[in-house]
Order: sequence, then structure tokens, then C-alpha cells
Amino acid sequence: MKAWILEKQSKIEDKPIKLEDAPLPHPDEQEIRVRVQACGICRTDIHIVEGDLPLKKSPLILGHEIVGVVEEAGKRVKNFRPGCRVGISWLHSTCGECKYCLSGKENYCPNFQCTGWDVDGGFAEYVTIKEDFALSLQGINMEPEDIAPLMCPGIAGYCAFKLTETKKGDKLGLFGFGPTAYCVLNAANHLGIDVYVSTRSSRHKEEAKKNGAVWVGNVLEEELPVSLDSAIIFPPAGVLVEPAITKVGRGGILVLAPVSMSPIEIRNYSENLWGRDVRTLYNVKKNEGEEFLRIAGKANIRMGRRVFSFEELQDAMIQVKSGKIKEPNAVIKIAK
Ligand SMILES: NC(=O)c1ccc[n+]([C@@H]2O[C@H](COP(=O)([O-])OP(=O)(O)OC[C@H]3O[C@@H](n4cnc5c(N)ncnc54)[C@H](OP(=O)(O)O)[C@@H]3O)[C@@H](O)[C@H]2O)c1
Ligand SMILES: [Zn+2]
Ligand SMILES: [Zn+2]
Repeated sequence: MKAWILEKQSKIEDKPIKLEDAPLPHPDEQEIRVRVQACGICRTDIHIVEGDLPLKKSPLILGHEIVGVVEEAGKRVKNFRPGCRVGISWLHSTCGECKYCLSGKENYCPNFQCTGWDVDGGFAEYVTIKEDFALSLQGINMEPEDIAPLMCPGIAGYCAFKLTETKKGDKLGLFGFGPTAYCVLNAANHLGIDVYVSTRSSRHKEEAKKNGAVWVGNVLEEELPVSLDSAIIFPPAGVLVEPAITKVGRGGILVLAPVSMSPIEIRNYSENLWGRDVRTLYNVKKNEGEEFLRIAGKANIRMGRRVFSFEELQDAMIQVKSGKIKEPNAVIKIAK
């Protein structure tokens, strides 16, 4: 098969990934082989290429926003047969035996294997995965290139949303409005939750308004008119934590979504933090991923995306890094 291979990390502008012939992966008894139709580019891919994150195997095929069709199923596979549509996210597998896996908290499994980092991912014609970790896309009538960008920001955002325990009729605050918040806003609206968005740029404010936020502004400059039941912070900006938590009423929950964060200072513990829960998003869960994809199908959640051909991956990554693409996502179309 054809695949983009990374052997040695370097700046993406040095063109370190090569489109080459690679061995066709064979599914074991519990695995499926998926013919990849589309795979989105995530900033994490660029961090891996450039060495901001360590290279865990070499050669490596990147890509963890995968949509495709089952082409072959191992002997003991029960839930998928050739022709089924599936998605593959950052979660490639967990051990299934530790205290976390046994209690439905596989996101904390110490043996969490990441697609396109610990194991080969989707910038290839084919990829294999254990059936237990493939996400079913049956009944979701969206094009592969529209589903692919939901596989990382969409699922991560939804897992952050689940941590907020927000229910129908509650008030949810979103701080920062990138692709992740976009998915949460649309899913929350679909579930009957009022969403308040604080972001700085007029482009994001307009986008949030257009997508049904009941209030849009910047809490660092203007007063939020209500007390929130819960909130999520998306950008890695520690300075947002105290302003955000003050907007959440006692008994409420604040979720921090970033994987890194600038220093956090709470100057007034008793007034601003006491009586609220602060939680962090740490990896994603399979059942919540599937739940989100079903909601996305029903609510028709589509993000702006630019589609590139398979041969254009390297140039597309260079453009994503330089911020030249005006759409919030870039997707590689690999097959029909
Ligand atoms: N924990 C996990 O397992 C996991 C998995 C996947 C993703 N994530 C995280 O999810 C987050 C979402 O990423 P994203 O790409 O959707 O969002 P993002 O681009 O990091 O941030 C969204 C928006 O927040 C605003 N913002 C940025 N810096 C700010 C600052 N200093 N103060 C106030 N606002 C600021 C910007 O909009 P304005 O210019 O309009 O203000 C920005 O576009 C990331 O932090 C990522 O690390 C976590
Ligand atoms: Zn990602
Ligand atoms: Zn485990």
C-alpha cells in the first residue's frame, strides 16, 4: 500500500515525511483492516513530526482523525463485517485489565496507545485496529471528509463536556472558541443546554452567535449576565481560570481541556474557588466518542474544512502550521 512515512523528526518545511510503499497491514483475530477514505490533520501530528513530542516508533505513519470502510475482519470479530463504516480516533487501544479499564475510565489506562503515535495511523491506504476500539459510523449520513475533523476536536470536546455533568436546561460557559468549542456548542444546543461563549476575536464571536450561543462576549472586558452551572476552558491560558471559575456558581464544575497550561493563580480562594469543582480532561473514552458521533450525525455538525489530495499531505501540513488555511480544519482525502 501507499503510506506517508516519518523516520526522522525535523521541521515540516524540511519535508521529513515520504510517500512510499509500505507493507499491507494484516488484521489479527480481533482486528479489522480499514480502507481509509479520509484522515484529518491535527496540530499534534505536526508536533510529532517536528520533535515537540518524542518519536515512539520509527518508521511511523501519522494520522488519528480517520474515517473508512472495513475491508477485512479477523476470525473473532463480532460487530463489524466488510463494508461497515468506521472511525478511528486518538484512542487506539488500552490494556482492558487495569483498574481504570475495568471501571469505564480507560482514558487513564497507563497503557493507553495513541493512533498515529504509538502505532501506525491513517495517512495510508489501510490501517488495522482492534474491533473494540473502532467507532461505528453506521447510520451517520455524512461524507468522510466531514466526519474526519470531528474525530479529534469533536470527541475531545464532548469528553470535556461530559465531565461538566451539564443537563438539559443548565447554563454552560465556553471560554475560547476554536474547533473544539464549536463542536461542544452544537452538541450542547442539540441537548437543550444554553451556552454562553467568551472569546476575544470578532470572527469567533460571530461564529458562536451564528451557531446558537445565547450570549457571546469577552468576560475579561464585560460582565456575563448570569451565573453558570458549568464551564470549559479550551486555550492553554492559565489567566482565564480565575475569571472563569468566578462565573460558575457554587456546586458548579469547571473543566480545563488543554494538554498544557500556563501558570494558574487563584488570588481569592474563598470568594472564587471555594465550593466549585475543577477537573481536567485527560484523553478520551470510546463510548463517549460514539455518543458524540451519533449526536453529530443527528444535529448535522459540520465544521469548515479544506480538502487536500493524498499526495498533498506534506504541503497541507506546512500550510496548517503557517496558519495559511482559512478553514479551521484540513482533511486529506485518500479514497472514495
Ligand atoms: N486533554 C485532552 O486529552 C485533549 C485532547 C484533545 C485536545 N485537547 C485540548 O483542547 C483544546 C482545544 O483546542 P482548540 O484548537 O479547539 O482551541 P484553541 O485554539 O487552543 O483555543 C480556542 C480559542 O481560544 C482563544 N484563546 C486563545 N488563547 C487565548 C488566551 N490567552 N486568552 C483568551 N482566549 C484565548 C482563541 O480565540 P479568540 O482569539 O477568539 O480569543 C482561540 O482560537 C486545546 O487546548 C487542546 O490541548 C485536549
Ligand atoms: Zn488530534
Ligand atoms: Zn488499562
